[in-house]
Amino acid sequence: MDLSEVWTEKYRPRSLSDVVGHAEIVARLRGFVESGSIPHMLFAGPAGTGKTTTAIAVSRELFGDQWRYNFLEKNASDERGIDVVRSTIKNFARTKAIGTAFKIIFLDECDALTRDAQNALRRTMENYSLTCRFILSCNYSSRIIDPIQSRCAVFRFARLTPDGVKKMAERIRDGENLKMGDKAMAAVVDLSRGDLRRTVNVLQASAALGKEITEDEVYQITSELKGGEVRDVLTTALEGDFLVARGKLQDLMITRGMAGEDVVRAIHRAVLVLDVAEETKVTILDRLGEYEFRMAEGANEYIQLDALLANLTILGKRS
Ligand SMILES: Nc1ncnc2c1ncn2[C@@H]1O[C@H](COP(=O)(O)OP(=O)(O)OP(=O)(O)O)[C@@H](O)[C@H]1O
Ligand SMILES: [Mg+2]
Repeated sequence: MDLSEVWTEKYRPRSLSDVVGHAEIVARLRGFVESGSIPHMLFAGPAGTGKTTTAIAVSRELFGDQWRYNFLEKNASDERGIDVVRSTIKNFARTKAIGTAFKIIFLDECDALTRDAQNALRRTMENYSLTCRFILSCNYSSRIIDPIQSRCAVFRFARLTPDGVKKMAERIRDGENLKMGDKAMAAVVDLSRGDLRRTVNVLQASAALGKEITEDEVYQITSELKGGEVRDVLTTALEGDFLVARGKLQDLMITRGMAGEDVVRAIHRAVLVLDVAEETKVTILDRLGEYEFRMAEGANEYIQLDALLANLTILGKRS
């Protein structure tokens, strides 16, 4: 697929005024932008609510056309680890900002960092605070150490309200000349559960079938897509191809906007119709319960899903 076709990018707000919902957050950020400077910030909240989007919008507004040169986005929980993140940060921080007083470093998934890594991050923040502002993003602020929290202005991103989801869906409907009745709209709102990435992806998947979008289509498309694709991930893992299965699952979560809990639910449905021995199914379901519980307790979904896939790979090799 042509990247310009990915609607989450196409419809990613470019300015703060295009951000849906979060009125108080936007107002506070606008104040910073007008002053020409920002503090270190911590964005906390569930997936698909606009943390990355808002960070980019702030950079665009502060830096104009130069924003790309002065904005670095990194995933803190990257497999390459905090050391590389830190060396990249150092290199980025060392070079002078282009046409601006400071640069912005956006670090995603900070809650996946260990305490030690967070302490190292804190020191990095202090060392470069003259030339760099950090925007840290996480799902749960409670997992961020106090010394970091106290150095940051904290912003809590809530799930979007049904009205917010509707507003986004209407923006896309009008932008793409889609036809949608009230019921189809209600289905999109229902499936989105306050996650706008999901809103955009559900609409793109439905629109692939035609400009007229119906309620049935919305429900059917999302469950079929996910069902088939999740089955594929399971089969790949059971065949022993852990890395391929992991890659497929990550794609699925990104392009279909599935959260960890959605994946677990979809796996639950897929297992029952999987073409494997009864005993294997029972073992998978038993494990699934454990991972579902851990995620509900707030464990990192990517780590839990990796562990689940690893489990399936081992299981596949045994049977
Ligand atoms: N508040 C919002 N206003 C408008 N669009 C939004 C908003 N939140 C999310 N979106 C849409 O959803 C997509 C994903 O949002 P974004 O990457 O900002 O989420 P996030 O909060 O960073 O999620 P994650 O925790 O998964 O990184 C965006 O590209 C945009 O299309
Ligand atoms: Mg993000």
